[in-house]
Amino acid sequence: MSAARKPRVLSGMRPTGKLHLGHYVGALVNWVKLQEQYDCYFFIADWHALTTDYADTSRVKPNSIEILLDWMAAGLDPEKCTMFLQSHVPQHAELHLLLSMITPLGWLERVPSYKEQQENLKEKDLGTYGFLGYPLLQSADIMMYRADYVPVGQDQVPHIELTREVARRFNSFYPGPAGPVFPEPQPLLTPAAKLPGTDGRKMSKSYNNFILLSEPEVSLRAKLKPMVTDPARVRRTDPGEPDVCPVGDLHKIFSDKETIAKVYAGCRSAGIGCIECKGWAADSIEEVIRPMRERREKLEANPREVWDILEAGSARARQAAEATMQQVREAVHISGEFEPPPDAAAQGS
Ligand code: TRP
Ligand code: SF4
Repeated sequence: MSAARKPRVLSGMRPTGKLHLGHYVGALVNWVKLQEQYDCYFFIADWHALTTDYADTSRVKPNSIEILLDWMAAGLDPEKCTMFLQSHVPQHAELHLLLSMITPLGWLERVPSYKEQQENLKEKDLGTYGFLGYPLLQSADIMMYRADYVPVGQDQVPHIELTREVARRFNSFYPGPAGPVFPEPQPLLTPAAKLPGTDGRKMSKSYNNFILLSEPEVSLRAKLKPMVTDPARVRRTDPGEPDVCPVGDLHKIFSDKETIAKVYAGCRSAGIGCIECKGWAADSIEEVIRPMRERREKLEANPREVWDILEAGSARARQAAEATMQQVREAVHISGEFEPPPDAAAQGS
């Protein structure tokens, strides 16, 4: 057994509802591996959900449970990693507040997702204090656990960069008696396999082109049937090219070597039809998601147990968070520890 502390990993997801294959390929597969090697903290960012869903909060809690079910179905194991709910670790709010004191407005206004999301979600008023602070709350999430690595997609990299800047600024204002309180976290980029949705665009909840991790087999097959293919393959007798076909992309991710070889040969020679090819893709996906669906069904039968796992993880997270916050409060000189009054002699009496 090595005495060295395992490097720490932290990542989170907003509770947007049941996860789809995009989340699986883009994040979860990687997380499941990371838990074997690192001291991992994975959390459900329910406060982050409020930055856009503040007017109707009714889905936040049920969606949080959906995420946890999908995480565990995919293989995250409460014995191997800490899974928790952000709002059950109130220290995140305290650190966010302290960081807000030292963060220049310009740093937040400059984050690309700020203006982009305001453009994309025109139907919501995102001209709020909380929404501007979204990436700073994320910085607090990361810094709280003094994470070394943050597995994220490319779109989140500016948030990690902001976190590094904020950590540096904190350390320079408040060095702390035992040296810098915060390390500078590194993004751990998830190599993004191209996962198309059923319409050929990137799989996304907002395009309604997704396949759930918990998709029943019947609807998996129904969703694949009308899927977009190589546009040049109009007739059954036309040869096609799997490298420009979204179904081909699915095969590359989910099928075994033999099936992929059959697809390339059959498609390019017009030896197979697209219907048949989609059937094979559905078979391959079904093989990956069936065990997850089954695990999920078992978990769903014991909702209390699932909730208890989240509570136990949150209790563990609170301990780690409180340890950080004690150092933070001390470094900022607002800790509750007794300090002797200033020496009377120093005041010249
Ligand atoms: N912003 C992230 C997303 O939308 C979710 C998130 C919140 C997060 N806090 C985090 C991710 C901390 C990594 C680390 O996907
Ligand atoms: Fe795409 Fe398969 Fe049809 Fe080729 S045979 S175009 S890979 S669906």
